[in-house]
Amino acid sequence: QQQDDYALMESVARYFQQQLRQHANSQKAIDYLKGRGLSGDIVKHWEIGYAPSEWDGVLKTFGKEHERVKQLIDLKLVNQNDRGKTYDFFRDRIMFPIRDRRGRVIGFGGRVLEGDGPKYLNSPETRIFHKGHELFGFYQAKQSQRHLDKVIIVEGYMDVVALSQFDINIATAALGTATTPEHLSMLMRATSHIVCCYDGDRAGRDAAWRALENALPALKDGVKLTFLFLPDGEDPDTMVRKVGKDAFMNLLDDALPLSRFFFESLLKEHEVGTPEGKVALKAAAQPLIDQVLGDSQKAMLQEELAKHVGEYDRFRLQQDMQQANQAS
Ligand code: UTP
Ligand code: MN
Ligand code: MN
Ligand code: MN
Ligand code: MN
Repeated sequence: QQQDDYALMESVARYFQQQLRQHANSQKAIDYLKGRGLSGDIVKHWEIGYAPSEWDGVLKTFGKEHERVKQLIDLKLVNQNDRGKTYDFFRDRIMFPIRDRRGRVIGFGGRVLEGDGPKYLNSPETRIFHKGHELFGFYQAKQSQRHLDKVIIVEGYMDVVALSQFDINIATAALGTATTPEHLSMLMRATSHIVCCYDGDRAGRDAAWRALENALPALKDGVKLTFLFLPDGEDPDTMVRKVGKDAFMNLLDDALPLSRFFFESLLKEHEVGTPEGKVALKAAAQPLIDQVLGDSQKAMLQEELAKHVGEYDRFRLQQDMQQANQAS
């Protein structure tokens, strides 16, 4: 069954690629990709395709037997409504096949060309697609280099693809979900330096903090985790096109170390000029530090915390708080 699922997914990926070349309406998809600055080579490299606008492109091509239709529904390539009517899940979208770490097609991301609907539609979870465990581009990054000096986590398919067009073949993207502890553990087995590079917008900054929180339980000693914050309104795709490969690589090298991002963020929330502020900082930081996997990493953060809360131990802080309360 599973073997067969992968074979079918692979065939459907080929079909979408074929539609990009052959479908009567594919010119607008090609124009869209050109408009995004993608070369033909890069479209081929990432096996980017086109899901035509009809309701039964995949269904007609692959669903000739009842058993197959059932399988297409299970793999979420075909939807079935309450009245039993079946139709293609992806329609009129640019298609990005998602390969797992072993190179098998397990799902798709589909982008609208323009207009309405959610910008990206991702395959829902299926028996072979587990979003929390896989990263778009990880397989290709490993194929391109035996040893990965560093890996970049970005938000989107287009970010991974654009970076690779600039010969930066070390980017991976979570599949429309947050970066999970499993993602980070997987990357930490493959590299000793991970750079989180999310969009320069509110969502991106929040995603960076969530990634940090999720990384702590997986943070081994000897692994460097850094954070690159892009200017407001930029994402890795727009940024690399603006500054080019070398400047982008320099930005990666200068990314903020975990400890700096950790304390800068917490110090924005908690004013440590007062005992109350120190208690609050300690209360926010300690549970996070306690989760850190690596002993040296943990000790490093603990030491840094001590610098900010000074010699205040829990007992003295309590006394100070009481005095402060009495005084007010
Ligand atoms: P963004 O909203 O930053 O995408 O979402 P973007 O950079 O504008 O997309 P492009 O460049 O125009 O194509 C970042 C990523 O989050 C996921 C996608 O992977 C997207 O690339 N996403 C976004 C979804 O899964 N669904 C959505 O509706 C939106
Ligand atoms: Mn899995
Ligand atoms: Mn964004
Ligand atoms: Mn973008
Ligand atoms: Mn973006």
